[in-house]
Amino acid sequence: MSWNTQGNDTVTVLLAGPKNRTDVWQTALSKDARFRVSAIANAPDDLMVKLASRPDVALMDGAMFTDADGFVSAMRSMSEDVYVVLPQLAPNDEQGIRSELAGLPHLKGLYAVDMNLQTLVEKIFADTRAAKMASGAGAWGAMSGNGHRPVTARIVTVWNIAGGVGKTTIASSLAYLASQRGYPTLLIGMGSPPDDLPMMLRLSPEPNLAHWPQNPTIEGLRVITQKVGSMNVLGGFVDDMAAGQMASANRDSPGSFQSLINTAIREYAVVVIDTPPSSQAALALGVSNHLVLVGTPSMATAMRTAEAYRMVFERMAGMHSLSETTSYLVLNRAGKRVEPRDWHRWAAEAVSGGFLPLIATIPDNDAVGIAQDERVIPVERSEAFREALMPLADALFSENYGNSGNTGRTKSILGVKVRF
Ligand SMILES: Nc1ncnc2c1ncn2[C@@H]1O[C@H](COP(=O)(O)OP(=O)(O)O)[C@@H](O)[C@H]1O
Ligand SMILES: [Mg+2]
Repeated sequence: MSWNTQGNDTVTVLLAGPKNRTDVWQTALSKDARFRVSAIANAPDDLMVKLASRPDVALMDGAMFTDADGFVSAMRSMSEDVYVVLPQLAPNDEQGIRSELAGLPHLKGLYAVDMNLQTLVEKIFADTRAAKMASGAGAWGAMSGNGHRPVTARIVTVWNIAGGVGKTTIASSLAYLASQRGYPTLLIGMGSPPDDLPMMLRLSPEPNLAHWPQNPTIEGLRVITQKVGSMNVLGGFVDDMAAGQMASANRDSPGSFQSLINTAIREYAVVVIDTPPSSQAALALGVSNHLVLVGTPSMATAMRTAEAYRMVFERMAGMHSLSETTSYLVLNRAGKRVEPRDWHRWAAEAVSGGFLPLIATIPDNDAVGIAQDERVIPVERSEAFREALMPLADALFSENYGNSGNTGRTKSILGVKVRF
């Protein structure tokens, strides 16, 4: 996924297939600024209607068709470039379909295996760009007038299955650092009810996450957030009942957590979620593209951190778009008790295969707790704490965006205009 946003070379995509498939594709593409989903079709007749959106390409799961004939005739009637996955096909059927469709110029890919989505997406982008360049310079330019602003947001979950390790402290500090770097930033509290984030940041416990379903729009979101400096904060639930309601909401309903995030990324370049050890974590993990695992220097927490890692990358594999290359491990409250190297080894040994490297070691520092008791964000009080967070903040927020030679006062970051 590219962190750069070039507004005028967006590839418009029609997604077609069974709903569970298009949901996954839509989530993945919504986080990739190079693409814009122009329409979604979950049934063959709907496909023909939705093609009116004139997408550059169609990405399709053939399972949407009940028989091979319907599929073949739909392919023939289309003129858009189309990429199809047909993962459940018997070898004989596959042969038949391939020979029926042989030579169809707009059929760019037909995959009988469950393709890795990222690989497929890269191919679609490369093919489309090559085609547009070949067809003249006007093609890219013509795309930019569609009024749609592509967005790639960093959605960062700060998490562990262990409590009291500094998740809230680090999530709020990271979000604050991102906002100081000029990124429109939203910090979301999901701590176990009652969420302690508002208290730590001298904010009101209401309005909060529980109010999202009442007006699930960009305006509604603005109304329920509060400010700390230039950072926007949405506090978490004050009781278990509200938390349970959001967890059980259908992910496609406007009041769902997923829809909150889909709305937030239209306005924010960075969303940081302070994620609890409870089952509520699944909501946050499911929408995030970056993970920060926070541990403290004890054997018990090393084991819990290893367990959290396994939960994400083994048991929940395929249920989220987190990857190991965008996941980071932080040792917080480090002191004399154990060497960071040894702590990391304990955790790594509890995971078979790979494990995340340690990106930051944050010292145990009295100034952190003192600042929080005064309800001041610790990075404003402790230079040592701020410095220790830098490797993590740099990894998450400091790639080179846009035109490096730009001397203007505004800059487009992730498709969001930022004033310096
Ligand atoms: N680096 C640190 N040095 C000293 N105290 C810390 C540090 N990080 C967190 N704390 C303290 O640890 C306690 C738990 O932190 P918190 O962020 O609430 O953890 P969690 O959200 O994981 O439960 C708080 O009292 C906080 O002040
Ligand atoms: Mg907490």
